[in-house]
Amino acid sequence: MKLRVRGHIRDLLGFKGLVPKRKKRFAKSPARAVGVDPMNKLARRLHPAAQHLVVAEIKDETKTTKTFKLVADPDSATKELACFRAGQYLSLRVEVAGARVTRPYSISSAPFEALDAGGFYEVTVRERQGGFLTTHIWENWKVGSKVGSSGPCGFFYHEPLRDAGKIVGLAGGSGITPFRSMAREIVHGESDAELLLLYGSSDQDDIVFQRELGELEQKAPDKIKVVHVLSCKDVSMEGCERGFITADLIKQYADVDDSSFFVCGPQAMYEFVEKELATLDLPRRRVRRELFGELEDVTRLPGFPQEVAERTFQLKANIGEVTVDVPAKATEPVLVAMERANLAPPSECRSGECGFCRALLVAGDVYIGPEGDGRRAADKQFGYIHPCMSYPVTDLEITIPRGM
Ligand code: FES
Repeated sequence: MKLRVRGHIRDLLGFKGLVPKRKKRFAKSPARAVGVDPMNKLARRLHPAAQHLVVAEIKDETKTTKTFKLVADPDSATKELACFRAGQYLSLRVEVAGARVTRPYSISSAPFEALDAGGFYEVTVRERQGGFLTTHIWENWKVGSKVGSSGPCGFFYHEPLRDAGKIVGLAGGSGITPFRSMAREIVHGESDAELLLLYGSSDQDDIVFQRELGELEQKAPDKIKVVHVLSCKDVSMEGCERGFITADLIKQYADVDDSSFFVCGPQAMYEFVEKELATLDLPRRRVRRELFGELEDVTRLPGFPQEVAERTFQLKANIGEVTVDVPAKATEPVLVAMERANLAPPSECRSGECGFCRALLVAGDVYIGPEGDGRRAADKQFGYIHPCMSYPVTDLEITIPRGM
C-alpha cells in the first residue's frame, strides 16, 4: 500500500524516510516555493496560539465596570488581530504575584472592529470582591500595559446553519458583554439575526452599556429589542420590568417556539434561569450557555458531596518531567490548586468546554457538576478530566500531557 502524505505534513510527522517524495507539480506552486502554505497562514490568522496586545484606552461603564480597548502590540510579533465571531472570548494571560493565570473574557466589541487598520478588541471587566484577576486588572492595567491573550475561542455565537434566526439573549450583570458584540454586528449589517435581549440587573446604576443598548435598539428597531429587568425593591426607571427573568416574562416577549436561547451571566442567574427554561420544555440544542470560568460556589450544585466541603486534599501533579505535590481544597477546581502553587497548566475557557486543560486522572476521585462536563465520550472512558471543572473529593494524582 502506498502512503500518500503531503510534504509539509510528512516533515512535521518526521516520516521523511518512509514517504515518497512529493510530486514536482507541488514544488512549482509559488506559495510552496518560498515555504509559505496559504492554508497554514490562514489558520494562524484565524486561530493564533497567542496574541500580544496592549491597552490603548480605558473607559468607565459603571462604578464597578470598565471597558479596556486592546490593540496589537506594535513591539511584538502580533501584526494583526485574529478574526472572531460575535460572542466569543479571549483567554487573557496575566502574571499575578509571580503566578501565571488565565481568565476568559467575552469580547464586547464587534468582529468588524478588529479587522480594519487600527483594529481592536474590547473586554469589559466587572470588579468582583475577592476576584483574583479582576482586582489585579483594576489596580494595575493602565494605557500602555501589555497583555497576553489566546486567539478568540468558544462556541457562544449565532450560527445561521445551527440556530434559529431569532436570538433570545438572557443576560445578567456583566454577562451582557457578548450580546453587545452581537447587537453591534447586527446594526452594522453583518448579521441577519434578530435579537431580543432580556437583561437582568440589580438596579439602574448596575446596568452596563445602558445608553449604548438604547441607541443600538433605535438604529435597528425591527431587529433589536432590549428589555431591562431590575430586581431591586425601589425601581424608578421607566419602561423596565421588575423582578427576575421568569418563564412568564420570556413568554411575554419572545417567540419561544421559533428562537434560539443564549444565556450569559453569573452562577446565581444561571441557577434561576435554568429552572425557568426547564418549564418551557425547549430542546437542548436551542439553549446555549456561556460560563465565565469557575463557579462561585460549587457546594450549591446537585450531587456535590457536602461532607468533604471543608476538606483539603493532596494533589500529585505530573507535568512533563516534573512531579509536584500541592494542597487542593474540595471547593476549588484542581486547576486553581495548581495555579496557587505557581504552576501554569494550560487553560482557556475554564468552564469545562474547550478541553485545553485535559489531564489524565491517575488516582483518586473528583466531583464534576452537571453543566461542567464537556469531556468527549472517549476521554470519560479512559479516565481524563478537565481540571478547570473538576473538584477533588479524595487525594489525587493527575498527569498533564501538555507542557506548561
Ligand atoms: S480550560 Fe477549557 S476545559 Fe478546562
